[in-house]
Amino acid sequence: MKIIKHFLFAIVFLTVIGAPLSILAQEEEAKVIDSYTYEQNDNCLKCHGHSTYTYYNEGVERDIKDRMNPYFIIDSTEYYVSNHRTFVCVDCHSMECEEFPHPAEVRMEPKFSCLDCHAGDEAYAKYDFEKIDEEFQKSVHYSKHTEDFSCNSCHNPHTYKINARTNANMEEFISYDNEICLTCHADISKYQLLTTKENPNVLETHSWLPNQVMHFKKVRCIECHAEINNDILVSHNILPKEKAVKQCVECHSKNSRLLASLYKYQFTNERSALGFSNQEMLDENYVIGANRNYYLNVLSIGLFVIVLIIIFIHAMLRIFIKH
Ligand code: HEC
Ligand code: HEC
Ligand code: HEC
Ligand code: HEC
Ligand code: HEC
Ligand code: HEC
Ligand code: HEC
Repeated sequence: MKIIKHFLFAIVFLTVIGAPLSILAQEEEAKVIDSYTYEQNDNCLKCHGHSTYTYYNEGVERDIKDRMNPYFIIDSTEYYVSNHRTFVCVDCHSMECEEFPHPAEVRMEPKFSCLDCHAGDEAYAKYDFEKIDEEFQKSVHYSKHTEDFSCNSCHNPHTYKINARTNANMEEFISYDNEICLTCHADISKYQLLTTKENPNVLETHSWLPNQVMHFKKVRCIECHAEINNDILVSHNILPKEKAVKQCVECHSKNSRLLASLYKYQFTNERSALGFSNQEMLDENYVIGANRNYYLNVLSIGLFVIVLIIIFIHAMLRIFIKH
């Protein structure tokens, strides 16, 4: 009986502590989108959110239905979970877009770049946008296509949502990150915005890699193609292809380069604070034979603390019940 009582007490105790912690953990996600934003954006999304749109044609005095350019369609579901979900379209686009047909200048308007807003802003110091920019400018993309390649080429301003930093599901963020590269390296139309070269087939150029499908699920393109940089979470200097990682031991060894790239997120405070310590990571680290002690340590410290708490409650109960 006594044991059951103590056990129940311990559960209640842990729930009481646990609840506010998990609410804290969710806080970050819950950026409020107010109804003003939805209303304003609906003025644009009624056309840009669909594959067809309707407008009143004064010439023929009736409604005309037409097709929307597929590249001009904004997926509102993706938009409202992206980094910039609290924005109204005209925060970044000219107010003149409210007219239809849009004036010709809209097409020519200079587009914001990330640094226009994020440079030198304390609130984003943890990302270090300046360092990312520095690294990007060294990259093969920037050096070959300085005028046309920008942050927006990889980060769709309407849909980009930080992942590696926040997504606990490793396969999911790996595929998210790889998808960014594949928007060009597996899509000739976007690739050819930049060059008239033939787009090499990624599957063929990587046929030397055994079990390619599995590798592309377990590592990101940038693991092999970006220079390691310890100051930022995601390396942005894509090197020329001759410098790409080809040696198996660079990853399959005790001091694997993955510790400084793919697995680096484990050490960011946010991830630890959110309590990511899932089996997946243990497995992952087991395979490459490196720092798996980290999570085991956290786990054992956690268990130790819980045991201490239970002993404490036990002692207190005894004291109170006796007197
Ligand atoms: C009645 C439908 C309609 C509405 C409403 C509408 N648009 Fe458009 N928009 C279009 C069409 C059609 C195009 C492509 C043809 C063109 O450029 O006129 C376009 C093009 C654009 C472009 C791309 C210009 C270019 O060529 O690069 C931007 C940016 C844009 N719209 C923003 C907006 C914003 C922001 C709003 C809301 C304030 C908005 N639009 C409202 C129909 C609409
Ligand atoms: C954070 C800034 C930002 C916000 C918010 C934003 N846009 Fe954009 N938009 C851009 C940038 C930058 C580009 C140019 C992208 C490029 O160069 O590839 C762009 C391009 C476009 C285009 C042209 C298609 C293209 O990909 O080039 C359309 C249409 C468009 N935006 C509509 C909208 C609509 C509708 C909204 C609101 C639902 C919106 N945008 C909100 C920054 C923004
Ligand atoms: C027009 C200004 C503007 C532009 C352009 C812009 N941002 Fe932002 N960004 C903001 C603001 C403001 C926020 C905060 C939004 C909020 O809290 O609702 C933000 C939020 C973010 C966040 C999320 C921060 C967090 O902790 O949740 C990331 C990541 C981000 N931006 C990256 C980018 C990238 C990458 C680009 C370029 C592709 C970019 N931004 C372009 C103004 C901008
Ligand atoms: C060649 C493609 C590419 C280009 C160009 C690029 N990025 Fe990235 N960036 C990525 C990928 C891939 C990620 C990982 C996405 C994720 O998981 O959040 C990333 C992540 C980020 C993050 C989140 C990092 C973190 O610490 O969580 C920021 C901020 C960012 N990029 C800003 C920029 C800025 C600013 C530029 C332009 C100077 C830029 N990026 C250009 C591919 C690119
Ligand atoms: C395991 C390491 C590794 C991974 C993962 C990897 N690559 Fe590569 N990649 C290489 C190497 C090594 C080369 C050079 C191959 C050669 O020259 O034979 C290369 C070549 C390339 C080239 C140049 C092809 C050419 O012939 O011009 C492109 C583009 C490329 N990779 C894109 C990607 C993309 C996109 C991804 C993610 C989907 C990716 N890579 C994932 C190692 C890798
Ligand atoms: C906006 C389109 C676009 C995106 C997104 C993009 N690339 Fe590229 N990439 C190109 C183009 C175009 C070239 C060819 C450059 C040239 O040789 O002119 C290229 C070339 C390369 C090369 C070969 C460089 C060489 O030495 O020939 C590698 C490797 C590469 N990209 C990797 C990546 C990786 C990794 C990502 C994702 C983080 C990525 N790319 C995202 C367009 C893109
Ligand atoms: C960019 C880092 C990287 C490189 C380079 C790399 N691998 Fe891997 N490899 C991995 C990761 C990560 C896994 C997945 C481990 C897991 O989760 O089971 C893996 C898995 C494997 C597996 C399957 C192991 C299993 O448990 O099923 C084999 C076999 C393998 N790699 C062989 C190679 C060979 C041979 C090379 C060199 C030609 C190579 N790898 C290069 C990162 C890499």
